Amino acid sequence: MVSILVTGGDGQLAMCFRDIESNFPNFEFTYKNSSELDISNFESVSKLFKDKAFDWCINCAAYTHVDKAEVDSERAFEVNQIGAKNLALMCKANSVKLIHISTDFVFNGTKSFAYSETDDTDPIGVYGLSKLKGEQEIIKYHDAHFIIRTSWLYSEHGNNFMKTMIKLSKTKNHLKVIVDQIGTPTYATDLAQAILDIVKKNPINYGLYHYSNEGVASWYDFAKAIFKEKQVILNITPIKSIDYQTAADRPHFSVLDKTKIRTNLHIETPYWRDSLIKAIRKNNE
Ligand SMILES: NC(=O)c1ccc[n+]([C@@H]2O[C@H](COP(=O)([O-])OP(=O)(O)OC[C@H]3O[C@@H](n4cnc5c(N)ncnc54)[C@H](OP(=O)(O)O)[C@@H]3O)[C@@H](O)[C@H]2O)c1
Repeated sequence: MVSILVTGGDGQLAMCFRDIESNFPNFEFTYKNSSELDISNFESVSKLFKDKAFDWCINCAAYTHVDKAEVDSERAFEVNQIGAKNLALMCKANSVKLIHISTDFVFNGTKSFAYSETDDTDPIGVYGLSKLKGEQEIIKYHDAHFIIRTSWLYSEHGNNFMKTMIKLSKTKNHLKVIVDQIGTPTYATDLAQAILDIVKKNPINYGLYHYSNEGVASWYDFAKAIFKEKQVILNITPIKSIDYQTAADRPHFSVLDKTKIRTNLHIETPYWRDSLIKAIRKNNE
């Protein structure tokens, strides 16, 4: 059996591992939620690794409140930087391979074609900076890592854009949605599948990879597609970011180039609208 630790065990992405784990009968999963394992606490991370042997650690734990991070930066860095470092140190000490999830928000969004792994990072908010520092700690402390940057995660679990739009459509007949932020919606179940495919292949070409669904969209396009698939008729007005003030700035463009993960690890990247159809069907079940 391949023993896999999943941190942040009650979060959106971790829930997607729970959904598909039965497709991987040779994998044994140990999920730890934030109250069972605080990754920012070195002693509790160290104790867990002493108590149980793992082959892989998939770090789904993160401080993900992008706006709140602007005023709560200490905690964002404790979780996203120090937490990543703690896991890297313990994985290194116990010969555990580490898969860590990072974000498109490490980029400033001024490019107009897809970001590759070699592009310069320049986060424009605390969340993005804390995630970038987490990547750097892992690279510094543990060679056997896959850092996977992803974007715009959604699924039938947790709080995400798809679920928010569906909920709002039940009470509103008019919505304003941002049109000048361009990225790629990513079905979190596709990401979970891609990660477990990596574990199954057990490759040795470690490093930094980009993974999202294929294609591009604005939040406006994403909302339109959600309502089309849901067969909901609703007025949607496209608005600019400047007319929807948030505590944190977001990159205007954060499409990720997936060539490396497709070529080096042979991981498929489904088209975002095909995956949205699957997610909506699942959400209706
Ligand atoms: N969601 C997106 O659009 C998106 C986009 C790009 C990248 N990502 C990255 O993808 C990964 C998964 O995101 P997600 O959408 O699954 O986020 P999520 O639903 O917010 O899940 C994160 C989980 O981490 C837990 N957590 C927070 N602090 C922790 C700590 N100190 N120790 C252990 N667990 C802790 C949270 O628990 P509590 O709720 O109890 O605090 C939560 O269950 C993250 O690394 C995120 O940065 C997400």
